[in-house]
Order: sequence, then structure tokens, then C-alpha cells
Amino acid sequence: MPKLAPAEAAQPVVSPVSSAAMFLVLTVAEGGEDAVRDVVPDLTAYARAVGFGYPEAGLACVTGFGSAVWDRLFAGPRPVELHPFVALDGPRHRAPSTPGDILLHLRAERLDLCYDFADQVLTRLGDAVRVVDEAHGWRYHDRRDLLGFVDGTENPEGIEAVAATLVDAERDPEFVGGSYVVVQKYLHDIASWKALTDREQESVIGRTKAGNVQLPDAALPKTSHVALNTIAGPDGEEQAILRANMPFGSFRDGEAGTYFIGYCATPRVTEQMLRNMFLGDGEGHQDRILDFSTAVTGGLFFVPPTGFLDDPPPAPAVDERAADSPAPPASTRHMDGSLGIGSLKRS
Ligand code: HEM
Repeated sequence: MPKLAPAEAAQPVVSPVSSAAMFLVLTVAEGGEDAVRDVVPDLTAYARAVGFGYPEAGLACVTGFGSAVWDRLFAGPRPVELHPFVALDGPRHRAPSTPGDILLHLRAERLDLCYDFADQVLTRLGDAVRVVDEAHGWRYHDRRDLLGFVDGTENPEGIEAVAATLVDAERDPEFVGGSYVVVQKYLHDIASWKALTDREQESVIGRTKAGNVQLPDAALPKTSHVALNTIAGPDGEEQAILRANMPFGSFRDGEAGTYFIGYCATPRVTEQMLRNMFLGDGEGHQDRILDFSTAVTGGLFFVPPTGFLDDPPPAPAVDERAADSPAPPASTRHMDGSLGIGSLKRS
């Protein structure tokens, strides 16, 4: 594989803020591994096929794989920091770890393109996968969450976003340009939130609501979302993740929420933020946003570089796989995967 800088090798992790997004979490059925492996090299081609005619819509598709499925799909080295999402049991709030083998994070200015991409890929995958979580997000006013606050302002940009999110050769030479992504679906208790004054809401978040400015240090509560998510590394440098959260809601289901998604070159930064939020900062301060937002899912995925997707390593040896899973049923084992729309598979 040619030597590429992380940004050249990466899936569209660092993408402009979009007006629409679709989050799909899939599990791979026992015996579905070969069908999944057949589709992986065509993912880039599907995105191109759906998005090419609408360049202004900026369709961006990012695919990640969970820890448990990695060894079922791919022989060879694993991303060094890939592990299952760590559930957290705080004094008052829980972050559950929920099933998920594959994450599809689809972004565009138009939801229909996300839908088309998902339709084509999921039709091809058939019974090899099950959709275990799905959220359709849309831009809400001037990029606000459903709590009414602008979400995403302090995200890193440009070179800083690349450095924060993409694995470089020092971190993991086998997976330069990869990224770790954490997703959590949060449901808001909107009635309780609305019972607060704007001032009280601002102390929960740590920013002003109308003007979207951070509260001055002296007025920033230690239990605020901003305070608990501003963390420094051993060298005192602030640690950043790239968030692409989206609001979603359903009146039928009585749900209004935020789909949290955070990319980082190492899962450790996002995990530290989560520990601060749920377990506390060591001085008894947990994130007050959790009094109004319940995490109902949690997953950690590795987003491999595009070269890996286009030309994945061979399947693990049958006896390696057989150690954990029974022989696959004939119906899913020999699915014809050829798409012929421009896969970049190399010999
Ligand atoms: C209910 C779910 C969440 C909502 C509604 C939410 C909303 C917000 C809002 C409104 C801000 C302030 C503006 C900005 O984006 O900079 C913010 C900041 C931030 N959030 Fe969240 N967030 C949620 C979950 C999370 C989670 C789970 C994490 C980390 C694991 C996180 C990490 C951050 C970080 C790093 C900042 C920037 C802090 C700073 O430097 O000022 N958020 N969030």
C-alpha cells in the first residue's frame, strides 16, 4: 500500500457540518461474514454512485467496525486500541454498552441521498446483517440541539481536526488514516428541561443560549457540560474530539434526542470525557446534562482507512472463526456479491 498522510488515506471523517444525517448500527448474523466482506470493497463505489450527480449535497459515508466483529471479518493485525465500548455505572447515571458490529454514519445536505445509499447497501447485505439502531437526524435551526443550544461550536477545524481524529504512523503504522468513533443515543426529558429558566439551562451547558458564548470561568459551574468536557493531556494541551451530533425525534414514540457521535485518533480521549460526565471529575461533579438526557445506546467502532475498505485483508482462517461461531448456513455463505460499479479492489 502506498505511504499516505493520514488525511489522504481517511474516510470522510472530517467533513463539513451537514443538514441531514443517518446513523445505522448493524449486527452481523452468524454466517453473514462472507456477505459482509463481499460488500466492503464496494462501499466507496456505492457512495460515489449515489452522490456523484449531486456534488452540492456533499454525501459522506463513514463505515466503522466494532471490536467483536473485527476478528470474524478480517485476518491480520487489529487496530491497536479497538475494544468494546466500556459501559459506565455512575452514582446517578448509566452509560450502557449495546450491541453493534458495524456503524454507517451517513451525512449530506439531503436525507434522500443517505436513504438511497443505505437502501442499496442494506439490500445487498440482506439477512447477513440486522439493523439494531437507526436515527435520522436533521439540522435544527442554527445548528441547535433539542435542548435549544448551539451544538458543535468548539469542534476543532482544518489541520487541528485532522490531527485530533486521524491515526498517524506513530500511533498505529498499520492503520494510518483510521479513526475511533463513539456513538450514543440520548433521549431528552424535554418537560423537565423546559421547567428550567434560560439562566439555569445555561449553567447546565456552560454557554449562553441566545449568544452561544462560553460562561466566564468564574461563572462556569464544575457540573456544567463544558467544564467536564474540557480536558487536558499529560502535557497540559487541551484534548479534542470531533463531534457531529444530530437532533432526532418522533412524536409517535414520544422521543426527542441527540445522537452523539465523536471521532478521535484514540478512544481514550472520548472515554475520559465520558468518565467525567458519568462518574465525575474526582471531586463529586457529574455532568448535569445527564439529569435531562438518558443514554440508551453506546458503541465504539474503528473506522479503517479507505485503502483497507477498498482492498480488505483476507478472511480469518476457518478454524480461527470456527472457534467462536458455528458453521454458517448455506443460504448466506455463498451470496453473489459482485456489483460491477467500480470497486477499487486491488490484486
Ligand atoms: C445529550 C448529549 C449531548 C448534548 C445535547 C451535547 C451538547 C453540547 C453543547 C450544546 C455543547 C456546547 C457547544 C459546543 O459544541 O462546543 C457541547 C460541547 C461539548 N461536548 Fe457535548 N453534548 C452531548 C454529549 C456529549 C458527549 C457524550 C461528549 C463526550 C463524550 C461531549 C463532548 C463535548 C465536548 C468535548 C464539548 C466542547 C467543550 C468545550 O471545549 O467547550 N458531548 N456539547
